Amino acid sequence: MTAELEALREQAEAELGKVGTEEELLTIRTRYLGRKGLLTGLLRNIAAVSPEARPRFGKECNELKEILTARIDAVLDGMASARKAATLLDARIDVTLPGRGVRRGRVHPVIQVREEICRIFASLGFSVVEGPEVELDYYNFEALNIPKDHPARDMQDTFYVEDSIVLRTHTSPVQVRIMEKTRPPVRILSPGRVYRRDSDVSHTPMFHQIEGLLVDKGVTFGDLKGVLTAFLKQVFGEGTALRFRPSFFPFTEPSAEVDIRCVICSGQGCRVCKQSGWLEILGSGMVDPEVFKNVGYDPEEVSGFAFGLGLERIAMLKFGISDIRLFFENDLRFLEQF
Ligand code: DAH
Repeated sequence: MTAELEALREQAEAELGKVGTEEELLTIRTRYLGRKGLLTGLLRNIAAVSPEARPRFGKECNELKEILTARIDAVLDGMASARKAATLLDARIDVTLPGRGVRRGRVHPVIQVREEICRIFASLGFSVVEGPEVELDYYNFEALNIPKDHPARDMQDTFYVEDSIVLRTHTSPVQVRIMEKTRPPVRILSPGRVYRRDSDVSHTPMFHQIEGLLVDKGVTFGDLKGVLTAFLKQVFGEGTALRFRPSFFPFTEPSAEVDIRCVICSGQGCRVCKQSGWLEILGSGMVDPEVFKNVGYDPEEVSGFAFGLGLERIAMLKFGISDIRLFFENDLRFLEQF
């Protein structure tokens, strides 16, 4: 190689050895190999070389061009793989880290109890129906034989939407709605939300009830006892002692409240059962003839029984919860226990 070419090569090698960025590298490439570059300049001036030295000079110029091109490409490749390695390192994922679990929801304890009760009554041939929560005074009170001056109608207990429209205070109006549009026999269960102006450890303004109604020819108080006994033993255990206590509801005659032996103290007497040894579980009775007349049933022809119970109360007793408000606070630490 001529001294001139050799010098050019050394100069280029030295510059390539120090190159830092891709930008610098491209500048070097232009300086030597570009259209106005140093090596290109030499080739262009080939006419100045003596004719006998010309072929060799041309060959060596091309060789140098190839050498430099290869060197520059090699440095460029090196830079690209260094960049890729840096990116990979930067975006490194630790595949041994535990994954972020999806939090599983669960069925609310009150709804668990609702489902269990619906299942038990479904096995006894009852079908589940629903009624409106915003209800006419007529269905909530009037048709159920609750007279105008009954304390349950007091503004203290009932949320009035308008004079003749209320938030239903119990699920009993569903009985009337169903009987109005069906002929006996009737066997229904109706769960749902009810509303009362009440709030303390055992009362919330909204809570859940389940209503049951069975109407047919020749239904007796014995049927009521049999069905409710079978039901309560399934919920609270076969050995649970029950008692039927005379009571009064305007829409049943006779009426009975049903108690179970206290599940907390087994009847010894405690705070929960107020030292009585018994817990009130539900209201029930034989459908009052007045109610039958209101829906166009003939009380001489058919008879039936009805019952109603509060779901929160059953859930509290079943799970040993002392404050009803816990059900509605939606604190996961509470809800995850069921
Ligand atoms: N509706 C009553 C209440 O909210 C509960 C009830 C009692 C329902 C006796 C009935 C029944 O169907 O026969 O307190």
